[in-house]
Amino acid sequence: MVPNRRPRAIGILGTGSHLPPRVLTNHDLEQMVDTTDEWIRSRTGIVERHIVDDGVACSDLAAEAGRRACEAAGVDPRDIDLIICATFTPDTICPSTACHVQGKLGNSRAFAFDLEAACSGFVYSLSVAWHFLETGRYRHALVIGSEAMSRFIDWEDRNTCVLFADGAGAVVLGEVEEGRGILSEHMGSDGSQTDLIIIPGCGSRKPASPAVLEGREQYLKMLGNEVFKFAVRIVGEAVEKALEPTGLTQDDIDWLIPHQANIRIIEAAGKRLNLPRERVVVNLDRCGNTSAATVPIALDEIVREGKVKEGDILAFVAFGGGLTWGANIIRW
Ligand code: UT7
Repeated sequence: MVPNRRPRAIGILGTGSHLPPRVLTNHDLEQMVDTTDEWIRSRTGIVERHIVDDGVACSDLAAEAGRRACEAAGVDPRDIDLIICATFTPDTICPSTACHVQGKLGNSRAFAFDLEAACSGFVYSLSVAWHFLETGRYRHALVIGSEAMSRFIDWEDRNTCVLFADGAGAVVLGEVEEGRGILSEHMGSDGSQTDLIIIPGCGSRKPASPAVLEGREQYLKMLGNEVFKFAVRIVGEAVEKALEPTGLTQDDIDWLIPHQANIRIIEAAGKRLNLPRERVVVNLDRCGNTSAATVPIALDEIVREGKVKEGDILAFVAFGGGLTWGANIIRW
């Protein structure tokens, strides 16, 4: 009989990220669609974003972020037991981007799969990997959020093209001392709202065809205003629900790392949780909305800047297409 063991404490051993070098500014976008730098800054908080060059795909960004996270964790990429890539802009519909990443890392021992929860994908993936590892059957997981959003954006649609961007962030998970690491999660989804953020074409519902391409249905469509209203409510609520089982309160949060979609959503969340500005991590002015990659990229930035101290309480929170949402509470 298998002995009844306590779940192991699992935490983040190392972080990494990768942004493609090419920068697209609001002024560049002014030349492409009917928009202004002033509108984009004031309505979203975005000033510039990174975009992949021709020939670069989601797994290229993911593998680089993954390599950096492994290096920071002191774990050989070939020794990773589980690779999860959160993305909805994969290299190929089949096989998974995680398998492309595994090949690039020269890893042959892991099982690898993608997790699609749109912008909530990294937060979902962190929880999934946590539960695999806490059984003790696997030692190290590489969890990546990676997006090549620019490939699925309609560069003629000003409602979306000014928002999204490319990039990847990653963490290596492994055993940590009792009382530390991932403490809790809260996840949810609402399948009655699938139309709010959708790529309608080139799936099994509407396979690629001249009509689909002509209707530009291979690109992401979003009812931004509806998503905005939902996001303002759900961000604070998800963090509060994730805090509940931990016995911690919002006052204990040292770092809130929210999905970087809109500065007005982030500010509303900070206000609801009563957090001073300096405890809310913001990089969307430089990075835009990289969907599943926003949280791990922002995390990697503050970790590398030496801001996160042992024992700090971190709250990750994200929301996106599905609709989906989720939050994790972590003791560093
Ligand atoms: O990652 C998760 C998914 N996405 C999100 O989180 C997005 C959430 N939503 C948002 O961030 C905001 O709703 C947006 C930034 C997308 C839009 O801001 P808004 O304050 O909700 O604007 P709106 O959609 O109500 O549009 C206001 C006006 C409209 O013009 P009219 O109808 O009032 O004449 C739009 O056509 O702004 C216009 N507009 C633009 N104008 C200049 C929309 N996009 C642009 C643009 N440049 N790029």
